[in-house]
Amino acid sequence: ITSLPLLARGKVRDNYAVGNDRILMVASDRISAFDVIMGEPIPGKGALLTKMALFWFDLLKDVAPNHLTGEDPLSVVTPAERPQVEGRAMLVKKLKPLPVEAVVRGYLAGSGWKEYQDNGEVCGVKLPAGLKNASKLPEPIFTPATKAEVGEHDENISFEKMSEIIGAEMAEKVRALALKLYKTAADYALTKGIIIADTKFEFGLDENGTLTVMDEVLTPDSSRFWPAEGYVEGRNPPSFDKQFLRDWLEQATVNGQLWDKTAPSPALPQ
Ligand code: C5P
Repeated sequence: ITSLPLLARGKVRDNYAVGNDRILMVASDRISAFDVIMGEPIPGKGALLTKMALFWFDLLKDVAPNHLTGEDPLSVVTPAERPQVEGRAMLVKKLKPLPVEAVVRGYLAGSGWKEYQDNGEVCGVKLPAGLKNASKLPEPIFTPATKAEVGEHDENISFEKMSEIIGAEMAEKVRALALKLYKTAADYALTKGIIIADTKFEFGLDENGTLTVMDEVLTPDSSRFWPAEGYVEGRNPPSFDKQFLRDWLEQATVNGQLWDKTAPSPALPQ
């Protein structure tokens, strides 16, 4: 798109300025995990994720305000640019993003499972002993992470650390809202046979200081979706999201060496 100024090219999305107060977010077909953007896009991914995010924004609109303006994204690009935008874009309010990722976990997976094995807690939240990989938690937990710049790595942080970054009052609000969003979505998904094991929300403040959900929500890039049928505690469930890519990257090699996902700007694995 050349008719609008490019604000930022993210790992997966490209953001364009629409005046001073709006952003056109275009979801590409790129796929990324552990800060690596894979060379091969997945055709149709951007459109599918956009469709899912729009569905969830609508379902959750009474739980929390979101960044959608309600306008047609096609109305801000030229006719020639419409095919690149159609179905894969959101026209959103420009917000002041909070510099934290609001992760909620209903089940133990990923970095949650790793942290639990190390010390029985996740982001400072103490959990009962004896939980297994993929265990359902007694209650969903809020486990924030830092929002890293491109090339750096997000880090799980405690609620106290998050309070230092955004203030205690805001941290309480974010936690309460994220948990409510997760529970509402997870209850709904379960009626369709899907477990939302965990997910990540991002929040920003609008011009009135209202806490608003931004970015994309409850997509396979930001969530773990498991089939409820056949779910067994202790076993890695098939995951309808990008877990397959994380698993592959964990054992991928670069020049015959196991790829180091913690290295800065890691080379693309083979
Ligand atoms: O990798 P981890 O187990 O910490 O991720 C927990 C959940 O939060 C997963 O659903 C993952 O997709 C999401 N997440 C995310 N972006 C991050 C960190 C976590 O979408 N930066």
